[in-house]
Amino acid sequence: MSRTLKVPGIAYGGDYNPEQWPEEVWAEDVRLMREAGVNMVSVNIFAWALLEPSEGTYDFSRLDRVLALLHENGIAADLATPTAAPPAWFFRAHPEALPVDKDGRTLSYGSRQTFCPSSPAYREAALRIARVLGERYADHPAVVMWHVHNEYGCHNGECYCDTSAAAFRVWLRKKYDNDLAALNDAWGTTFWSQWYYDWDEIIPPRVTGAVPNPTHQLDWRRFCSDELLSLLKAEREVLLEAAPDTPATTNFMVMYNFDKLDYWRWAPELDVVSNDHYLQSTDPESEIDIALSGDLVRSLAGGAPWLLMEHSTGAVNWQPVNRAKTAGELRRNALAHVARGADGIAYFQWRAAKAGAEQWHSAMLPHAGTESQIWRDVVQLGADLGQLAEVRGSRGVAEVAIVWDWNAWWALELPSQPSAEVRFQDLIRAWYEPLWRSGVAVDFVRPDADLSPYKLVMAPSLYLVDDTGKANLTDFASSGGVLAVGFHSGAVDENCHIRLGGYPGAFREALGVRTDELFPLLPGDSVELSDGGTATLWSERVALAGAEAVTSYTTGPLTGVPAVTRNSYGSGTTWYVATRPDPTTLASLLSRIREEAGVKPVRTTPETVEAVLRRGPDADYLFLINHGDEDAEVKVAPGAVELLTGKPVEGGAPLKVAAGDVAVVREPR
Ligand code: GAL
Repeated sequence: MSRTLKVPGIAYGGDYNPEQWPEEVWAEDVRLMREAGVNMVSVNIFAWALLEPSEGTYDFSRLDRVLALLHENGIAADLATPTAAPPAWFFRAHPEALPVDKDGRTLSYGSRQTFCPSSPAYREAALRIARVLGERYADHPAVVMWHVHNEYGCHNGECYCDTSAAAFRVWLRKKYDNDLAALNDAWGTTFWSQWYYDWDEIIPPRVTGAVPNPTHQLDWRRFCSDELLSLLKAEREVLLEAAPDTPATTNFMVMYNFDKLDYWRWAPELDVVSNDHYLQSTDPESEIDIALSGDLVRSLAGGAPWLLMEHSTGAVNWQPVNRAKTAGELRRNALAHVARGADGIAYFQWRAAKAGAEQWHSAMLPHAGTESQIWRDVVQLGADLGQLAEVRGSRGVAEVAIVWDWNAWWALELPSQPSAEVRFQDLIRAWYEPLWRSGVAVDFVRPDADLSPYKLVMAPSLYLVDDTGKANLTDFASSGGVLAVGFHSGAVDENCHIRLGGYPGAFREALGVRTDELFPLLPGDSVELSDGGTATLWSERVALAGAEAVTSYTTGPLTGVPAVTRNSYGSGTTWYVATRPDPTTLASLLSRIREEAGVKPVRTTPETVEAVLRRGPDADYLFLINHGDEDAEVKVAPGAVELLTGKPVEGGAPLKVAAGDVAVVREPR
């Protein structure tokens, strides 16, 4: 049977840590939750030490009271297994479960997530508490979902201890079918005398005198992601035995700079995909990051609705300077996530902490209490989400797909590349941005995904691609699709071996080009392009082998060499963007490409208005988010109703979206 989240409408809430407060406070908590329209909170995330005071002895009395109180007040619980923060007693009994960093330092307990993912003692203790918890609360009426662990890999994505080394060898034996020669071949260990004669010679890529073997590092990243995934699966299994009908989630971290886990492998293990997203204080257009992350999470969920499990109402506390949100930003951020497919909005955390490492992190109920802007915004958002109940379950519709692959990301950013300045996420965002500005809906896909729903597939950065991915992408083009590929893509196979014969290896034939040498640009350098633009970061000596030059360099060592090419391939078209054009040039190039592909924006809107569509069975939901300082007007379909105000839009008149405001319009279909 399908395990779905049984919370009506759009879920709303946050992490609730009542154990950090005297019980007198709890009554106020639930009263205010109701006032704000909160209908689900995540509890117990960091409560292990209080729940299990010593090994095998439990005290559930506090959690019993918390869950009863929530239930009495009609608030559902997303009940967490507290396994992200083992208690001190555990580490005193099992010091070998502490993780070791790349430099060989053993880390101490005293914060959270300081355990070795491969530790048998940790696994046993985690599964024990998960089982006891699962059995105790399986039928509790407040519990609507399991929140397994918390942000796997946030602080301990890699452990280099001897136990991890042994687990790595087990993983490798399985991957290479116990064939050490196959591993030696895949890793290219004839290089620098790295040949292995015995599995036991293999260790994690610890700090060493020179550059470690690339394939060794890449397999290590794959192993680390899989090792944590095996913990998720094990906890999930235990919970499923106890409560076969309760859905489970774990909170992903699809956000800037978190690259530890290959979430394509994780998402299928969950009943509900959820994500944590925080803004970077230094990003002047963090709304683009929200959109990108939301599109990626929705894609991980296979297009199904997902939950925003954590976000902040105001400033976080873990950046060098933590900026507060500006007027209306909390609301725009939250509704932008809903626009991208979230059926729930939750924050870290409900009540701002008085003590502990996160005492300066914002919350739904700030230190200042209810006499505060954040509280007023939180109450307003609760009302807004209440108005959007019918949006639940509706889905995004996209004609463009961007290829996203963690293996390609990891491989691209290994040391000793042609340029350490080339960063996966920067390239994806550079291509995503102009689509976002034009209101074009985007899905993210794996290289081997079903591409039939799309007219245009873009691979801004796909350094590594295996033969299946290569065939899938090039077949898409040859059978009539439009494929646009960014520089340094297709360079290596799944083992990080260079695809010989000229670059961009895997895509050379489909793109109709051949590059014999790479010319990365130094930081600060740029070259000019024949279309009047400039380019930075990267260039290469592209020779045409069937393709036509769209733009060429007019300055620098590659003057006259194509920078952007277009090729007819089978019944489709391929484009190669062999450099990083400035944003305006890239934007006009991508709009030419998408127009040729017949891709239309969701809606044409004034420049400051982000337009996103969710499609329901009988109606479309058009989200209009005005990020600008001026009021804007957008044309909507006849018979439309603006859901946040509940007002029909006057026949034929454009809808006004005030500066900084959001409108959600139901358009009949
Ligand atoms: C997340 C974490 C939360 C809290 C939050 C602060 O990474 O899951 O527990 O620490 O960050 O922004």
